[in-house]
Amino acid sequence: MEGKKEINVSKMMEVIREELLLPEKAYFFDTTLRDGEQTPGISFTLEEKISIARALNELGIDVIEAGFPVVSQGDFDACREIAHLGLDSEVIGLARCNMVDIDKVIEADMDSIHVFIATSDLHLKEKLQMTREEVLEQIEKTVSYAKEHYSTVLFSAEDATRSNLDFLLKANKLAVKCGATRINIPDTVGTITPKAFGYIVRKHHEFLPKNVRIAVHCHNDFGLAVANTIAGFENGASEAQTTIMGLGERAGNASFEETAMSLYALYGIPMNINTRRIFPTAKLVESYCGGKIKIGRLQPLIGQNAFAHESGIHAHAMIKNARTYEPLSPELIGIKRSDSMEEIVRQSIKLGKHTGGHALKAKLKELGVNTTEEQFNKIMTNVKRFGDKGHEVSEEDFLAIVKDVLGQIPEQEQFVHLEELTVLTGSVTPTATVKLQIKNNGEYIEKLASSVGVGPVDASVKAIVKCFEPMSKIKLLEYNIEAVTGGTEALGHVSIELMDLESNHIVKSSATHEDIVMSSVLALLKGLNRLLKAKNS
Ligand code: KIV
Ligand code: ZN
Repeated sequence: MEGKKEINVSKMMEVIREELLLPEKAYFFDTTLRDGEQTPGISFTLEEKISIARALNELGIDVIEAGFPVVSQGDFDACREIAHLGLDSEVIGLARCNMVDIDKVIEADMDSIHVFIATSDLHLKEKLQMTREEVLEQIEKTVSYAKEHYSTVLFSAEDATRSNLDFLLKANKLAVKCGATRINIPDTVGTITPKAFGYIVRKHHEFLPKNVRIAVHCHNDFGLAVANTIAGFENGASEAQTTIMGLGERAGNASFEETAMSLYALYGIPMNINTRRIFPTAKLVESYCGGKIKIGRLQPLIGQNAFAHESGIHAHAMIKNARTYEPLSPELIGIKRSDSMEEIVRQSIKLGKHTGGHALKAKLKELGVNTTEEQFNKIMTNVKRFGDKGHEVSEEDFLAIVKDVLGQIPEQEQFVHLEELTVLTGSVTPTATVKLQIKNNGEYIEKLASSVGVGPVDASVKAIVKCFEPMSKIKLLEYNIEAVTGGTEALGHVSIELMDLESNHIVKSSATHEDIVMSSVLALLKGLNRLLKAKNS
């Protein structure tokens, strides 16, 4: 397996696999554009859907569920356009078990079809008002019709985990008889535990022909979606239906990131996924969620804290071997981190009340600062005192503490200087003009650009990003502003996240100023400086 040295997990995983029905290969069916878009509050534009589909293709997703074409003209158009992008991924469309829905998938010219009908008595009685016999008749009629148009037909018995198991097996077997090549077992309302879900999947594995691919689709109502998906794989499933960031109805679907990396890192199952595209893809999807859904700070693998360390004991061990407190290398999922220990410390170790001597030494070294023992101890005391008050020690706080103790700190190398900024705002179209000096291949070059925007901040950010074209393609992934003090003279604290789209390098930065245009511009320039520094090192 690629990147073995980048992973270190429990040896018991080798022992336990003997008892399991793990597949030779894991397939990924991504439903971000369908179930993911059913996340309350989320709606992607056509351009965003196309951009996500391209990113999923680059990620190595096997099947992209582009949408549910019968639902709206917008969904239909997106399905058709994505089906015509010429992606390597198979592009599938969703349809209920009826002719109108199936015809819409055919009309959208999709590669394959996913048909579904509920099988639980609860859904039959309350939603469909159908008997079990009528459901079987509908499966026979519609799956056979879908098969006339598609060689690949995926069938889902909705609410499978609350269905009578004998009836569920009968419905799925009938779907296969009528032409379904793949059977999906959805835990529609997330109402099962891994053991019980594994049991259902194993029964299907025993009961269905071996050439039928078994997929699992788990919702996260009890926080068990990923665990249930893994249990499905331990019992004969080979396709995971997941979404980026775990988007989806209610509490969402199984997160792609966690499912893929569990199967890859914990079980070593081969897959078509380019793991290094995982983080950039999640950040891209997050940027299209318009701030309504954000990657959680503690979210496994992709959260801000997933590879961050504060404790002095952890920091000390990390400096020797990062695997001591990280199961896998962040680079493996596309989080760029330098091999140099100083850089690891800078990016991963947060200063606070648990800070130890090694971490502080590395942070000071990064600033190019030498201290006496007395100064070092004073800085340490102040960092811990700050942390003890419940504050996070930000970069600015740390600089202020060091400056306070030493009187001054050495100038950092600047790769970008702001020469001029003019902003026009009021009852006109907000416009910004910016002049920058940018260090490129050892020499400063002058760059001048103007842009309009929805407001003065937007115009300024766009003008600065323009100055970097065609040298670099920069995307602002996140922008947050908060008032530090109250009143109209309040200080505005801006924190941002930037990505270099060529290297996938993501940096964070922040700045504080009375003028929110200036705090935004200063935060952006700081981030750009960091990207350029990394590029030139
Ligand atoms: O959760 C579910 O049951 C679904 C089906 C359409 C597969 O999303
Ligand atoms: Zn679902």
